[in-house]
Amino acid sequence: FEGAGRWVPPGAGLDGLRRAAQGCEGCDLYENATQTVFSSGSASARVVLIGEQPGDQEDRQGAPFVGPAGKLLDKALVDAGIDRSDAYVTNAVKHFRFKQEGPGKRRIHQTPDAAQMTACRPWLAAELHIIDPDVIVLLGATAAKALLGPSFRVTRQRGRLIPRPPIDDETSRQNACYVATVHPSAVLRADDRDSAYAGLVSDLKVAAEVLG
Ligand code: URA
Ligand code: SF4
Repeated sequence: FEGAGRWVPPGAGLDGLRRAAQGCEGCDLYENATQTVFSSGSASARVVLIGEQPGDQEDRQGAPFVGPAGKLLDKALVDAGIDRSDAYVTNAVKHFRFKQEGPGKRRIHQTPDAAQMTACRPWLAAELHIIDPDVIVLLGATAAKALLGPSFRVTRQRGRLIPRPPIDDETSRQNACYVATVHPSAVLRADDRDSAYAGLVSDLKVAAEVLG
């Protein structure tokens, strides 16, 4: 597998990217997933939210953050004062990675590996280039490491504005600042859900302030 690069149509808009991504075979993940899950939101969005990869529900429905984590994220955005219509929501990896014990058994989420994240990066770079947002919210360690490097630690560096990403990526304009926070799924799994949720909202408010 050679990565998504050759499936990304040069000069395409968001609709062109969405269409082309449906045929992507840039890594092995397209083989077992139902479909490519691209993004929701418009090119004029001022804030981009990046998750890890589609979950079970997203894989079936073909849209990002529509399952339990998505419901929680929607509520947190409202509580942080971010208008969902101002937000573009996507994932670091566009196909669901899972393991399954046998036919009809529950599909269990697996974190994408480094090769899959690298393979899928051209899609994210193309999205960010088109949207050129003011602020990018990284939801969880996978998105944070994908954009800010493997040594980034969400637990230590969350909720702070990061002026410019230290990675170099000529396809993206990179005007946006970044804010990292926990993944909504981690809030759902937390022992103290209320305080985990409050932490997510408070980090999202840091992004909301950039939007003014
Ligand atoms: N988790 C993610 O990271 N992304 C989704 O789209 C859904 C759940
Ligand atoms: Fe292509 Fe990304 Fe899907 Fe891999 S995960 S097949 S690179 S869209």
